[in-house]
Amino acid sequence: MYFLAKRVGKYIVSEKLILMNPKFKSILSASQFTKSELSELLDLTSLIENKLQSRKQIPLLNEYILATMFFEPSTRTRLSFESAMHRLGGRVITAVGMQFSSMAKGETLFDTLKVLESYADICAIRHPVEGASALAAQTISIPVINAGDGAGEHPTQGLLDLYTIAHYKKLDEKPLNIGFVGDIKYGRTIHSLIQLLSHFDCHFTLISPKELQLDEKYISFLKKQKKEFLITEDLNKLSECDVAYVTRIQEERFIDHREFEKFHNYYIIDKEVVEKCKKDIIIMHPLPRLSEISTDVDDMPQAKYFHQAKNGLFTRMALLLYSLNINIK
Ligand code: NCD
Repeated sequence: MYFLAKRVGKYIVSEKLILMNPKFKSILSASQFTKSELSELLDLTSLIENKLQSRKQIPLLNEYILATMFFEPSTRTRLSFESAMHRLGGRVITAVGMQFSSMAKGETLFDTLKVLESYADICAIRHPVEGASALAAQTISIPVINAGDGAGEHPTQGLLDLYTIAHYKKLDEKPLNIGFVGDIKYGRTIHSLIQLLSHFDCHFTLISPKELQLDEKYISFLKKQKKEFLITEDLNKLSECDVAYVTRIQEERFIDHREFEKFHNYYIIDKEVVEKCKKDIIIMHPLPRLSEISTDVDDMPQAKYFHQAKNGLFTRMALLLYSLNINIK
């Protein structure tokens, strides 16, 4: 369907090769970051946030072009990447939707990417196939940022989520109970955030319907990291959490639409639910939100999802600099 599979086998090489390229760093998975890199990135993001308060631009990427290639719907991720590039003084070219690119004529992702490296200096790619950005990074000689690969990962969202949590809760001061609610199986933002949070003193409460539980791959990861976690269907467990990270049921990942209908409206976080939680719980959501958080929560002090989306700009500015190896100081 996406002209990708037949090329994958041929071009898979060690991820380490790409990540170790001294000129730049692709951002493919949350697993690539060490704890000290995460601390540096959080500091850099905060520095950028402060600098932006006094002026609109930090013109460090004047000579650079970012290509945003989005083969799945997006609002925040693409626009915040593009705004981030503009605020750094760079320029943006964009290809959105398979139907408007030559892929609609049958061109493979490989060929599409191959020409991209002469048009741009860095690219952010969203694609419905898991591993598509890793393939891209192995195909072209400019840094690739994974802006969501199917039900795989969404590392830049994970980083802005981490930045938001660090803003409201002191990491490593006391153990944090992080509650994930909704589609934990297909929610790629959760997959990235869990790996990032595993560097800190956290345990996890994973609230989902049985069919949408965390994939075995991530369960083994948590076990290996010796992280405590609870898998449950019971929304009442949210009352023990310090953070509620709520997600949309990922309709586009279901092969049988009747399955999706079963889970649609499964959990609804409304004012009453929030009132039963800890007073200082923060409610997060990567957005878009459907019915899983009712709008009566928006005015509560616990609701942080719009602030979280705002943090996407600062985080992505930091990540563009990190990826291109440009020093701010
Ligand atoms: C998320 C995604 O695309 O995975 N959205 C986003 O990037 N902010 C979450 C979602 O679509 O449910």
